[in-house]
Amino acid sequence: MAEKITAVKGMNDLLPEEIGRFQFIERTAHAVFGRYGFGEVRTPVLEKTALFVRGVGEETDIVGKEMYTFEDKGGESNSGTMVSLRPEGTAPAVRAGIEHNVFQQDPMVRWYYLGPMFRRERQQRGRYRQFSQVGAEIYGPASPYAEAELLDSAVAFLTALGLPDISLELNSLGDEICRPKYVEALVAYLKGRAAELCPDCQRRLETNPLRVLDCKVEGCKAVTQSVPEVEAHLCEPCKAHYATLLGLLDALGIKYRKNPRIVRGLDYYTRTVFECVSQTVGEGGLGSQNTVLAGGRYDKLIKNLGGPEVPAVGFAAGIERLAILLAAQKKDFREPPALFVASMNEAARQRALTLAAGLRRAGVSVDQDLRGGSLKSQLKRADKSGAKYVVVLGESELASGKAKLKLMASGEEREVDLACLAEALG
Ligand code: HAM
Repeated sequence: MAEKITAVKGMNDLLPEEIGRFQFIERTAHAVFGRYGFGEVRTPVLEKTALFVRGVGEETDIVGKEMYTFEDKGGESNSGTMVSLRPEGTAPAVRAGIEHNVFQQDPMVRWYYLGPMFRRERQQRGRYRQFSQVGAEIYGPASPYAEAELLDSAVAFLTALGLPDISLELNSLGDEICRPKYVEALVAYLKGRAAELCPDCQRRLETNPLRVLDCKVEGCKAVTQSVPEVEAHLCEPCKAHYATLLGLLDALGIKYRKNPRIVRGLDYYTRTVFECVSQTVGEGGLGSQNTVLAGGRYDKLIKNLGGPEVPAVGFAAGIERLAILLAAQKKDFREPPALFVASMNEAARQRALTLAAGLRRAGVSVDQDLRGGSLKSQLKRADKSGAKYVVVLGESELASGKAKLKLMASGEEREVDLACLAEALG
């Protein structure tokens, strides 16, 4: 036997049952974000590496060690350029907005996107090397009203998915005025306890000290228990921004918890950062990868990437993680067929084929067992398909042009004209 070729590690196949959950998440995203006035954008999967180095930050894990990067060969104008599979969607969306002059033309823009992202991470439940995000971004408003509406849309999205036990956690990282002073105080504290930090955090102390705050290593967690808190170091405008946002969330009836440990793994954030964390534990839960949605404000990114000075705020949710939580509901998210057609003999089998084709052309979803076989095995398959109705064709149905339409849920039957079946099902 020939040797099997397996998928690249961390790249997952999505089979129809899983796709059923993905499509439900995607449909929900289109419906909810459409209601909030977000327009969908689709940017390429491949971008110049420089976009992420400058956008997400050279010192981040994502850019430093997780990107799939290679040289774009081929003798065209791009030749010799280093390119990367996108690890996230915020920098690409900003690049597109700048490139198409969107921010100059409209002072308030709402965009959302869905699609695959790539990070060479250590694979575990809820963490993959190719994964999908649904993200939403608001460009223009500097005021906390943007965060408030954005978070309202995030909560509406998670609620429409029917996912229970997800909590919203918030923090403010300050701005270019107050954050450096906070980082100074943090570094001074951490340096005093550097020996207790993991080797990664000892390095972070020099490159990206805020990341020490969300290290999962027990020793580091113990050290950060008593670090100076960022809120106490916020300048007056940042403090007021945060307080107004919390008031708006109260007015919207959105529950939240302040969490001074949230620092995020991307460098572009200013002021507000947040995460939605699943509280479901055990078999149906996500384990350590339980952040299903995360984001924040990034007022400097557009300018940093060569665009105008436009503040922005956004989030992205991990579709695989949402799908894992939906899978625990043990429900099939695929749309079952409206009708299953079964046949009792060869002549009826042909009529079933043409009947199914005609109904599908009329917009009805129909299933049948293409293998033919016994009526019993066909009806077993009808049951498994979840079809709402079943119709069985035999000699008498062919002769009369009428058949019994059975409602599977109750077993109730009614006689219908086969020529008018589409109307009967509608
Ligand atoms: P992020 O926190 O890196 O933020 O990713 C957002 C979400 O994507 C995570 O909370 C998680 O649900 C999912 N995710 C991330 N990495 C993986 C992975 N390896 N496997 C499965 N799921 C994953 C961003 O990407 C920002 N662009 C969010 C944002 C938008 N900020 C402002 N606008």
